[in-house]
Amino acid sequence: MSAKSVSSSPPTAANGANPSLYTYLTMRLRYTPQVIWWRHPCVWGVPNGLLHTLLAAHAGEEHVEVGVGNGYFPARLPSWSPLRTLHLLDVNPACMSLTARRLRGRFNLVEHAQNAVNPWDSIAEASVDSVGCFMTLHAIKRASMAELAPLVAQAHRVLKTGGRFIGCTIVCHGAGVHVTGRARRLIEHYNASGVFFNATDSVEKLRALLAEPFGATRVEVRVFGCVAVWVVTK
Ligand SMILES: C[S@@+](CC[C@H](N)C(=O)[O-])C[C@H]1O[C@@H](n2cnc3c(N)ncnc32)[C@H](O)[C@@H]1O
Repeated sequence: MSAKSVSSSPPTAANGANPSLYTYLTMRLRYTPQVIWWRHPCVWGVPNGLLHTLLAAHAGEEHVEVGVGNGYFPARLPSWSPLRTLHLLDVNPACMSLTARRLRGRFNLVEHAQNAVNPWDSIAEASVDSVGCFMTLHAIKRASMAELAPLVAQAHRVLKTGGRFIGCTIVCHGAGVHVTGRARRLIEHYNASGVFFNATDSVEKLRALLAEPFGATRVEVRVFGCVAVWVVTK
């Protein structure tokens, strides 16, 4: 999303949705080239190949994707992926409908239109093999990283023993984090505009957040530029 598009965007609603930011046209036409192809590697410093590999390596037969965007990463899973049933969990209707339309022919889809920090009541306990949450935590409306604890608790609840919680998020602080001048300016602008909510996020806070339900020894976090990438096993 460009600085122009977000500066006129109304703030996120109480339910966490921001349909005027996440419009169908933006997600369909601009999100992939501008955000995924350009900003991921060139501004935030995370190679997309790594994210494709992460999802392919850990997505099991039944997978929950939190913050679906336009479905770019699941759409590019290799044909050998075991993923069959894909739960799409998102609060913005355009993201949900675009992703569902894109992936319908390939997976059995189950849609959960809701704020990811609210209980995932429509997904049973210990029922899924994997949960993914790519580039979404920094975009969830909240005052601090600690407010994401209910989301992480839900990921833990729905995973089977041995299941994986994987994902990545943009962090501003912490060991190994490198924020370029361009990235810092964009992060500041997005936090001021209500697009990002990660001004005080750090790798250490992310590690603690994940360790709370999963246990510290089960958490692996690596940093690429200003993106923290995690793999956690239940
Ligand atoms: C920056 S996009 C990331 C999309 C995708 N995961 C990717 O990596 O391409 C953030 C996604 O999170 C969703 N989102 C934002 N706040 C949310 C919330 N509170 N609950 C659920 N989804 C949310 C948006 O609708 C959008 O689909």
